[in-house]
Amino acid sequence: MDKTIELVNSVKDVQAMPSVIVRVLNVMKKPTVSMKELGDIVMYDQSLTIKILALVNSAYYGFSQQISSISIALSLLGMIKVKNIIVAVAMKPMMSTAGDKELWKHSIRVAAGCEYLANLTKIMDPDEAFIAGFIHDIGKIVLNASNPRMYEQVIANVNSSQEDLLDVEKKFFDSDHVKTGSLLAKRWQLPILLANVVSYHHAPSLSSIPVPCNLVCFVDKLMQINYNQNQLDKDFLKTLFIDLEDVDELRSVIMQKAEFLIAELT
Ligand SMILES: [Fe+2]
Ligand SMILES: [Fe+2]
Repeated sequence: MDKTIELVNSVKDVQAMPSVIVRVLNVMKKPTVSMKELGDIVMYDQSLTIKILALVNSAYYGFSQQISSISIALSLLGMIKVKNIIVAVAMKPMMSTAGDKELWKHSIRVAAGCEYLANLTKIMDPDEAFIAGFIHDIGKIVLNASNPRMYEQVIANVNSSQEDLLDVEKKFFDSDHVKTGSLLAKRWQLPILLANVVSYHHAPSLSSIPVPCNLVCFVDKLMQINYNQNQLDKDFLKTLFIDLEDVDELRSVIMQKAEFLIAELT
């Protein structure tokens, strides 16, 4: 059997999406979904209620008044933002296991960066940009879950040798997180835009939907812990009308925003 299929098949609980995400996605699919229906799901889950209230009161969104009711929180944030937050919270356990322990934080940082840049440049919808940034590395969940120790070794290797991550993954797993992610996106029946980002965030020029893939590819590099300005795509930066000399400042603004989110959602 193909190694990628074998890896994805070996992680049964990853293949089954967390039930709260399935519930939220199903509710959102209905043409006339009310805030109340979404509110019922959120309220059913106590930790989600607490996190959403903390978040809506945090500096990330910057509302001026203190909000203590979940229905007001939902109407202020809007349904799509709430859905994104639910996905980010629900996927935290599977993204914080052994292996790549930083995966969830990295995903939040890329999500916050994509949302921020989409808002600033208007190249795509900010809410869609957030979720695209958040899910880009789902293939790593499969590698982590199938062999956490081996994935730790992959990361140690990349950090010490500066070798390409996908190449090192291939050496250890005979597959990589783009391949496992693409298959997982299919099994999860993710929308085309998100599946594309998962498959092409390391090679955006090959995608049929280049804008979100380019954005995620750019922000992914920008939010690395050992970030190096030389690795950024300067041509893409030009299309955003952002000067290279402003990038470091941009990075620290995004980092700060992402840390608010991480603190409230942890
Ligand atoms: Fe990646
Ligand atoms: Fe990444």
